[in-house]
Amino acid sequence: MTVSDKVAGYLKRMPVSPFYAILDYVVDLGLQKEAVYLNMGEPHFDTPIHIREAAKKALDGGYTAYTPQPGIFQLREAIAEKLKRENGIEVDPKTEVFVTNGAQAAVYVALKTLIDPGDEVIVPSPYYPPYVINTEILGGKPIIIPFDLRDDLTLEPEEFEKHINEKTKAIFIHSPNNPIGGVISEENLKAISEVALRHRIPVVTDECYEKILFDGVKHTSVASLPGMKDLTLTISSFSKSYSMTGWRVGYLAAEASFVKSFAKIHHTINICVNSVAQWAAYAALTGPHDFMDKWQKVYETNRGIILEALEKSDVTKLAVRPTGTFYVFLDITKLGMSSEVAVRFFVREAGVVLTPGSGFGSYGEGYVRMSFATQTENVEKAISRLVEVLEKSS
Ligand SMILES: Cc1ncc(COP(=O)(O)O)c(C=O)c1O
Repeated sequence: MTVSDKVAGYLKRMPVSPFYAILDYVVDLGLQKEAVYLNMGEPHFDTPIHIREAAKKALDGGYTAYTPQPGIFQLREAIAEKLKRENGIEVDPKTEVFVTNGAQAAVYVALKTLIDPGDEVIVPSPYYPPYVINTEILGGKPIIIPFDLRDDLTLEPEEFEKHINEKTKAIFIHSPNNPIGGVISEENLKAISEVALRHRIPVVTDECYEKILFDGVKHTSVASLPGMKDLTLTISSFSKSYSMTGWRVGYLAAEASFVKSFAKIHHTINICVNSVAQWAAYAALTGPHDFMDKWQKVYETNRGIILEALEKSDVTKLAVRPTGTFYVFLDITKLGMSSEVAVRFFVREAGVVLTPGSGFGSYGEGYVRMSFATQTENVEKAISRLVEVLEKSS
């Protein structure tokens, strides 16, 4: 018996993420320097200076000890104010807000709060992989339903209805959506929440791209819909909105009894979120926001370049018009390759690194995800090379 035999069975069964395999392939081809990387899921901007200054001040001021488990009160209060002002959700900062190590930890904590082994969680696909991986790690069963991509990003309420039974303990909603790049309409969210309310199934909603929107499209928070406040576990984060991916600050807002459970779980693995990072997040919420207009312009320019290039050439189309996040989901079915093979093809032929759609569940097959959170010249270079390669192979 080797030492690796000692690793738990569920980990041995867990596949290696295809997201990282493509980077190994770039190295194998020796293309690390020339490649254009559009596979990343993070803004390319520096964290704004006033946020960094607040962190330095916290460090020099000696804010280096454990903080209260749910997070420093000033930050929870600022989050509650933001939720009221921007999302139409009224929460008590003392009992209904919990600061987590990013939205990533929030996903785990929310699931661990809701499910016992054998329970079921309904997850629309394509999905952000940790929704499914965490459900499986916790001994639950993910029930995958498809997004309807015919016109826009839509979920059929009947799909939820069909799969709800006594084992269903949560429904996952994620809008604006990674990897699809669309936003679920308020009307559609209302229809889904009516199903959740009828069956009293909690909704876990990941809204971490809530500020990255286009074409005047509005983001609706599930918890703001009639009757949904106590049945919703809202996840958000500082990572994407404030370009703070490495700081690791996110949060959960939910009814007080859920929040008490979050504390039990988050404490066992984190104790609390990094104190200095929490003060930085507090500065993010309470400080100036003018940088966001500048970032928005860059995203709009980059997205416009992609849309224009694809309009001029009919080599491929997008899953939906990208109205939220900094991703587009490109249809590659014409190539007649799996998405994992296609991303290798694009590295080899175009020097562009993308993410295979299959990494987001089986309904992501037939697509590749392209991020436009990068310098405009990278987007220009990448899209023209991709179109050229696709034209040649069609
Ligand atoms: C949909 C979604 N949820 C959560 C996360 C994790 O975010 P955080 O950095 O806040 O942990 C990501 C990161 O890419 C994401 O795309």
